[in-house]
Amino acid sequence: MSFRAKIEQTSKNKKSNIVLALDFPFETPENRANLFSKAESVLEAVNPYICAVKFNHHLVLPLGTFDGVQRLVKRTHDLGLMAIMDCKVNDIGATNQVIAEYYYAASFDALIANPFIGWEEGLKPIFDVARKLHRGVILLVYMSHKGASEGYGQTIIDTEKSEKTLQYVSFAKKALKLEADGVVVGATYPEKIREVHEIIGEKIPIYSPGIGAQGGEIAAALKAGARYLIVGRSLAQAENPAESARKIRALAKLE
Ligand code: XMP
Repeated sequence: MSFRAKIEQTSKNKKSNIVLALDFPFETPENRANLFSKAESVLEAVNPYICAVKFNHHLVLPLGTFDGVQRLVKRTHDLGLMAIMDCKVNDIGATNQVIAEYYYAASFDALIANPFIGWEEGLKPIFDVARKLHRGVILLVYMSHKGASEGYGQTIIDTEKSEKTLQYVSFAKKALKLEADGVVVGATYPEKIREVHEIIGEKIPIYSPGIGAQGGEIAAALKAGARYLIVGRSLAQAENPAESARKIRALAKLE
């Protein structure tokens, strides 16, 4: 079964389209040992209200991929959830291949990659490894932060058609052609979600980060065509993560 089908099934089972970004602030060496239990307790508390967990450098750097993080990925799977690695792969193909092999070896179901690197000796080795292992590749299309317009929003020349287009429009078309398992478009730009959704339709799900802490709104993102909502600080660093997750899931409730 493809990653896309697996997360769709998980989302149905868990009646949730919320992806928890398990992110925590920097910890000094004395407090770093607490990070694992902190992450584990948020995961346990929020579990009934989510369909997947997204990991980032916040845990990979201090805990290590094959130490703490792999144990958290295992717990994620034991709870019936999917695990996504937000590593935004962005290097030459030979390096990307090793990055993908390590993260998939750590049992991640999907990883996020940056389409700026192009196909040959860029994305291709990632897709090759992913397809061989039946894992997913999610592509960035328009990031959620303020500066995103400087890169993803640039006007470029479509070399095939020799006409002007927008970088994110080109990435959305590329994601469709490559049959990516998902695309990322920030919830902070609902109009971009709508445009991308018009290009990819229901063929590729849109993952939308930027809810809450970055100012993105659930209803606007969903109305524009987002399928999964990625929520980090508003859940992981909430006073009561379970209660916050319950409220967010209720707002994003799948019909
Ligand atoms: P917050 O705390 O803002 O966390 O809810 C969001 C999480 O998602 C990551 N992030 C992104 N990841 N494309 C991505 O692949 C994006 O456009 C994007 N915007 C935010 C962020 O690093 C954090 O883990």
